[in-house]
Amino acid sequence: MANLVLYRKYRPQSFSEVVGQAHIVRTLKNAVAGNLISHAYLFCGPRGCGKTTLARILAKAVNCKNIKKAPDDKAGEPCNACASCLEINQGRSLDFLEIDAASNRGIDEMRELREGARFAPTTLAYKVFVIDEAHQLTKDASNALLKTLEEPPSHAIFILATTETSKMISTIVSRCQRFDFLKLTHSQILACLADISKKEDTLIEEAALRVIASHSGGALRDAESLLDRVFTFHAGKKEEITAKAVQEILGIVDIEILSRFADLLSQKKASEAVEFLNANLERGMDPQEFAKNILSYLRQIIILKISPAMQETLAPGLTQEQRETLGKQAENTDMKLATRALKSFMDAEQQMRYADIVQLPLELAIIDTCIPNS
Ligand SMILES: Nc1ncnc2c1ncn2[C@@H]1O[C@H](COP(=O)(O)OP(=O)(O)OP(=O)(O)O)[C@@H](O)[C@H]1O
Ligand SMILES: [Mg+2]
Ligand SMILES: [Zn+2]
Repeated sequence: MANLVLYRKYRPQSFSEVVGQAHIVRTLKNAVAGNLISHAYLFCGPRGCGKTTLARILAKAVNCKNIKKAPDDKAGEPCNACASCLEINQGRSLDFLEIDAASNRGIDEMRELREGARFAPTTLAYKVFVIDEAHQLTKDASNALLKTLEEPPSHAIFILATTETSKMISTIVSRCQRFDFLKLTHSQILACLADISKKEDTLIEEAALRVIASHSGGALRDAESLLDRVFTFHAGKKEEITAKAVQEILGIVDIEILSRFADLLSQKKASEAVEFLNANLERGMDPQEFAKNILSYLRQIIILKISPAMQETLAPGLTQEQRETLGKQAENTDMKLATRALKSFMDAEQQMRYADIVQLPLELAIIDTCIPNS
């Protein structure tokens, strides 16, 4: 277990370990406990929020030999100890198939799947097919799959997972019982990271975990991968991991830098802003990362100007102090200047990809912001 990446090591093995997605977990558990299993499920939602995880738990639950019925509060949970659960957990079941539709997108693969689904399961009660990235199937393949879903063998269950439901043919979508997964909240991610750090016996500041959580985009897997990078970098050291260290390891631009830079813009100090930018680039700050971060920072300023109440949702990763700074900055920044800055830096971020002098578009954006009509 020791060298497993964190997100695999901490993949939930039962419904109760899944974070969030409560509406989905409850419905699936009830379905298993009440023998109301559907033959086709569609798990939609953003990446890294539990689709594959829940597909595997469901596959175990429908096949578990020790499944409890209501009113037991463990009703519907797989036991993770019987032969069926173990077979699936160890990835050696012939009746549990995970198909990546990104690399098996054609009609032949779907025909093969259809043939395979016809045969009775070898050891499990149900054959479970998980089709990941289902939106990547070609049109012909989708139609072949549709046929299977229209008359599924009674021993087969299909779980389609996708991050882009809108790209799937509607006839498939309407054949499936659909579950919409949600991004995890900042506090859910924070709690998981804290829990993992404790289990891994690693000391890390809460502020450091906040930095990671706010850079995960609501995907727990991404948060866990970032945590992994930080732990690996820090391996063998005894002292507590700080927020500052995390920013350095992950190449995240320090919020103090963004705030100082935004101050210079709002005071229209073009030359100081250019010098400040270059000084930080020389110290190793990544220009692309800076462009991305300053955009998100300027966006926060603008939204805060319009609706101060949005602060919590906008920047949940900030400390109280940083929150106050951002609030003050929003008050002191002229709306026209802020929108002009945002537009200029959006252009800059695009142009940087092709620029020979990578910071030049940023410098021009500074000038456009501070010296309009220049
Ligand atoms: N809701 C959740 N509860 C607990 N852990 C989660 C949850 N979502 C994601 N994780 C963690 O992230 C890892 C990846 O999750 P999973 O594979 O289920 O994501 P996914 O939704 O299938 O993503 P993708 O669309 O990229 O395939 C899991 O192994 C687990 O560690
Ligand atoms: Mg997945
Ligand atoms: Zn079991």
